[in-house]
Amino acid sequence: MTTITLVRGDITRQSVDAVVNAANSSLLGGGGVDGAIHRRGGPAILEDCRRLRASQYGKGLPTGQAVATTAGELDARWVIHTVGPVWSSGEDRSALLASCYRESLRVADELGARTVAFPAVSTGIYGWPMDDGARIAVQTVRAADTSVEEVRFVLFDESAYDAFAAAADLD
Ligand code: AR6
Repeated sequence: MTTITLVRGDITRQSVDAVVNAANSSLLGGGGVDGAIHRRGGPAILEDCRRLRASQYGKGLPTGQAVATTAGELDARWVIHTVGPVWSSGEDRSALLASCYRESLRVADELGARTVAFPAVSTGIYGWPMDDGARIAVQTVRAADTSVEEVRFVLFDESAYDAFAAAADLD
């Protein structure tokens, strides 16, 4: 049974086994959550990412997939990088966003992570509407077959928190 918790805050400050990064296919860093994780976690994360690019992911990590690296100097043991879809008003990419949560939990299970912190994937630079992103996140985690005991959604601002609270029906 997975417990869902919601907190307002910075995902890089969470004491959990694994922190999920809203990355891009290059795995070489960016803004938003990605920039914050690499800044606080230090260069060891990027080193691992470069190794993954050189070995398994020459063309980059495909959208909807997930892969783990060290968490460097973060409190967490691992960072699980996932690539959300860019929002499109003309094409339904929800299955790819759901896949990010499902695949991240699958990787967490492989690692033996029991507590996992997620940001609201795709809802920043990638432009996904928050209410819809929250609904997909909560529904996918609830339906997942996983040994993870706590999924903590870490929401940066009040409106994101409210959207997740509504999606989880906790408000
Ligand atoms: N802790 C928690 N949530 C945060 C934090 C933080 N430190 N910083 C931002 N958010 P984004 P995306 C929220 O843009 O939309 C990067 O350049 C933010 O308010 O980080 O998936 C990557 O390299 C938003 O609600 O990720 C990709 O190129 C949510 O986290 C691209 O951005 C996700 O915003 C990925 O875009």
